[in-house]
Amino acid sequence: MKDYKIAPSILSADFANLGKDVADVLDAGADFVHFDVMDNHYVPNLTIGPLVCESLRKYGIEAVIDVHLMITPVDDIIPQFAKAGANYITFHPEATKHVDRTIKLIKDNGCMPGIVLNPATNVSVLEYCLDQIDMVLLMSVNPGFGGQKFIESTYDKITEVKEMIDAVNPDIRLEVDGGINLENIGRVAEHGVDTFVAGSAIFNSKNYKKTISQMREIISKS
Ligand code: DX5
Ligand code: ZN
Repeated sequence: MKDYKIAPSILSADFANLGKDVADVLDAGADFVHFDVMDNHYVPNLTIGPLVCESLRKYGIEAVIDVHLMITPVDDIIPQFAKAGANYITFHPEATKHVDRTIKLIKDNGCMPGIVLNPATNVSVLEYCLDQIDMVLLMSVNPGFGGQKFIESTYDKITEVKEMIDAVNPDIRLEVDGGINLENIGRVAEHGVDTFVAGSAIFNSKNYKKTISQMREIISKS
């Protein structure tokens, strides 16, 4: 049985005080730092890159950094993120020409690769690469913005991908991203997710510790 990880998306953090806000959310009990990279090209928003990742490391952030690339092309930035201190690097298969090559590039740079599937992306892409990766990230909103509503069809997809993972390597993490909150996190966990991204539900709450503890309690009962 894999341990559960809570990964606050720093898209909803206070960018003017990012180091402190990330340190605070980790002190409050978060496990991973979910680092959303957007290029105003693959998605209609623009966020942060390797320099900010490196700054967080220099500030003293030691937690696992889970870099979610919503950019195209993908390959050029991978060595830069590896150097900047990334741990997981996940990418959208639509955003690269050669999925297998991108996976290998992430590994060659000492990071753990993951594939991200948009709400309407077929799971079939996993068939020939699942044994090569450390994480599958299922988008439960269309990528680009925080604070969107969880798309219900994700539950069936979680069940489907969980079965695929268990057949290949149960250690592969199954992460879900978008619209996760205290109301739905239990049901998400029941379907087989072990890594939970939550941006607005955590960073827009008054008390990070209370929110994360409540999430953990709900997950543990599911
Ligand atoms: C959306 C991002 C998410 C987002 C999640 O494209 O990948 O990580 O910040 O935010 P919430 O939890 O607010 O939906
Ligand atoms: Zn994300």
